[in-house]
Amino acid sequence: MSVRRLAAEAVQPKEFAFTAQNVDWAKSQIAKYPPGRQASAVIPLLWKAQEQVGGWTPRKAIEEVAAMLDLPYIRVMEIATFYTMFNLGPIGRNHVQLCGTVPCHVCGALELKKICEERIGPQGTVSADGKFSWIEVECLGACCNAPMVQINHDYYEDLEPASFGKLLDDLAAGRPVKTGSQTGRNCSEALGGGTTLKDSSLYDGSRVGAWKARFEEAAAKDSAGKDATPKASGESGGPAVPGSGRQGEPHIPQPAAPKGLAVAPAGSPAGNAVPADEPGAKDIAGQGSGEGTGKKPGDPSSGKR
Ligand code: FES
Repeated sequence: MSVRRLAAEAVQPKEFAFTAQNVDWAKSQIAKYPPGRQASAVIPLLWKAQEQVGGWTPRKAIEEVAAMLDLPYIRVMEIATFYTMFNLGPIGRNHVQLCGTVPCHVCGALELKKICEERIGPQGTVSADGKFSWIEVECLGACCNAPMVQINHDYYEDLEPASFGKLLDDLAAGRPVKTGSQTGRNCSEALGGGTTLKDSSLYDGSRVGAWKARFEEAAAKDSAGKDATPKASGESGGPAVPGSGRQGEPHIPQPAAPKGLAVAPAGSPAGNAVPADEPGAKDIAGQGSGEGTGKKPGDPSSGKR
């Protein structure tokens, strides 16, 4: 964890004011929040101030943001000094944020830190040629590709002392550099290449989605079978077996009722099987006659459709 202090007074500008364009932009940010909640715009305003100054946030900028948001200076000061995205002193053309949190640390961040110290200088200072500055920061969220650094707005991952040294050389010389993994790894896949989801049948429809085709096929067969079944007199073509769905729905086979039990009507709170001597049980056996239920044939509540 690095110590977060404002830059020395000697380098602090005497004044800070947003440009007219940035004032308009700041107002548009503040307007995004309900009245009384203008403090929510503090991060974007500090960021814009840092951008305007050229990469760092001086004391006067913090004061200006506090005044714009009608906040006590200390409230903005504590935010600017908490987040390492706000640089509290001048930075080099290439500002290196070196992740020193545990995953990067155990993968070699310490060696990268030594390189920074040797080639750039003490943390928080700008190199003599103005090309580099560096600080150690907490996890930047690319732990799978540890160790890593952020330079300006880009991530450089899977670093080793040699590749990091070359990266600094290239940046210093103005040569193009490759962002992301420096070992050629694709995103954060396993070292040596991906190991899962490689079966091509996962993508040709023969496995994923095959269940749907099977269900559709079964439903079509069921439907064809029903069309071919002669309808009982006075019935409108309802399900042929207990447990079937409504007309036109796929048939779902029901388990045979154990001896002494009968299949209960759909919706029976006792489930699909009830003792054969209970009134509801005879409803199935007596479908078409109303026997045992007190209902007449054709009664809509008798289970016939
Ligand atoms: S620990 Fe370094 S990116 Fe997370």
